[in-house]
Amino acid sequence: MSIKIDDLNEIKKKFLEKEKNKIQIKIAMSVCAKSSGSEKIFDYFMKETKDKELNVEIISTGCMGFCYCEPTLKIVYPKSEEIKIIGDVTLEKAKIILEQLTKKEKIESELKPRVKEKRVSLLNCGNINPESFENAVAYGAYFSLENLLHNFTKEDVVNSVEKSGLRGRGGAGYSTGKKWRALYERESDEKYIICNADEGDPGAFMDRAILAGDPHLVLEGMIIGGYAVGAKSGIIYIRAEYPQAIEVLLRAIEDLKKYGLLGESILGTDFSFNIELKYGAGAFVCGEETALIQSMEGKRGEPKAKPPYPVEVGYRGKPTVVNNVETFANITRIFQNGVDWYRKIGTEKSPGTKVFALVGKVKKVGLVEVPLGTKLKDIIYEIGGGIKNEKSFKAVQTGGPSGGCLSSEDLEISVEYDELVKKGAMMGSGGLIVLDEDDCMVEMARFYIGFSVGESCGKCTPCRIGTKRLYEILDKVLKGGGEKKDLDLLEELSITVRRSALCGLGKAAPNPVLSTLKKFRNEYLNKIERR
Ligand SMILES: Cc1cc2nc3c(=O)[nH]c(=O)nc-3n(C[C@H](O)[C@H](O)[C@H](O)COP(=O)(O)O)c2cc1C
Ligand code: SF4
Repeated sequence: MSIKIDDLNEIKKKFLEKEKNKIQIKIAMSVCAKSSGSEKIFDYFMKETKDKELNVEIISTGCMGFCYCEPTLKIVYPKSEEIKIIGDVTLEKAKIILEQLTKKEKIESELKPRVKEKRVSLLNCGNINPESFENAVAYGAYFSLENLLHNFTKEDVVNSVEKSGLRGRGGAGYSTGKKWRALYERESDEKYIICNADEGDPGAFMDRAILAGDPHLVLEGMIIGGYAVGAKSGIIYIRAEYPQAIEVLLRAIEDLKKYGLLGESILGTDFSFNIELKYGAGAFVCGEETALIQSMEGKRGEPKAKPPYPVEVGYRGKPTVVNNVETFANITRIFQNGVDWYRKIGTEKSPGTKVFALVGKVKKVGLVEVPLGTKLKDIIYEIGGGIKNEKSFKAVQTGGPSGGCLSSEDLEISVEYDELVKKGAMMGSGGLIVLDEDDCMVEMARFYIGFSVGESCGKCTPCRIGTKRLYEILDKVLKGGGEKKDLDLLEELSITVRRSALCGLGKAAPNPVLSTLKKFRNEYLNKIERR
């Protein structure tokens, strides 16, 4: 079956008609929700509402972002915008909610929507059933693809992506438009478009949440990308430790094949495209694009020197574009809402939003999405609720093991690509790990260098040996055997590793050491002086 615009409209109409008069109880069934007991709550509502004339529909959704108070649920009343969000749902609480619904009593919202948030990639996460193609279509999926395939040339699509100013969300913030143009302009009998869903940095779970909560948003972005660059194959490289996201994606891909949105002559055009999954085994280095391609080819996951870049020589030696999950999610939104809409969000140099996994010592740990340019203090205090147990804020580690730390002096900065780099940190993929007054920054630096030592592929000496030596010096300082000259050595060695390592893992591994040395030198000196 090859779906047409009328069919999409019909699916949307039917779905919205069905939900129009019902009270919907949307229950988060993401990994964090399930580990807090949401399945019990879901089963309870399913069982207890089955034979009652309550006009209630129970919907399983992805992550709602309130990880600190899972299980969470939303009650959406028909014909109104009224939404109640309830956290820490227990069976007792669920019973009370059901009684109130039965008696038509007013239910109070416990969690307020976050004012500073702007949901673009996460808009439907926690609102739709990720396993339902119809639900995705009813909430807007595939209409822009339909429009684009009939009315946009490939060049138009590439131009729009360039104009949007979208920067890749996988870490470095490279222009997606430039990358797509390079592939579009390259002549080749075969080209590939790869979605990087490796997400190996500690504390990060943004991509998992997007894929498991709204898979069609990413799939549509990939199909748009395939059309623009002239690729017939799309591959999602996803870590095998994400079984829920994998299951949801496989189901979504099956549905797309069934409706003719993947395969030959998509939407009645001469464009053919397929998407398949390849699984990573959880090595951080396999998130680096050249190592990822090696791993996809069944080889050892080791990075290669660049150039040549994947757009020149990529998967199976063919021109390839590698983009992050959130980058593809943004692509779909850009074509749904237009370039002008997109450019109004964020800043001139960093348009759009960014999803962060806000974790560590904040009160409200969770998944958040804010316009780029939002102040760091607003993310930590307004959205994150401030520091747990009335302790004081010490630092935030951005970008995981490749990132750097920001201190209380940096709370006023705008979170956007170039500002973070100016402050010695980096955006990375979106992990924000908050530390309080009890955390030791030297220990933190040792933890991250230890992670890089373990994850280094060993191919080049500066990284294989250099990170190990950095770890040993930090360990010596922490154990009381450090001397002042060790700090100079740490600095010198960090710079050497940064300059000479082959890939981004080694080049960025010393960042936590350099940024803590710069911002928290006193902590190092205290350890040395107290020996
Ligand atoms: C050690 C290392 C790990 C990486 N891990 C990821 C990852 O998990 N996901 C990702 O999208 N990019 C990761 N990257 C960046 C990729 O190499 C690549 O730049 C990115 O996928 C490009 O997508 P974008 O242009 O959409 O940002 C990693 C880079 C390095 C050096
Ligand atoms: S920098 Fe590290 S991870 Fe990258 S190639 Fe060299 S040894 Fe491997």
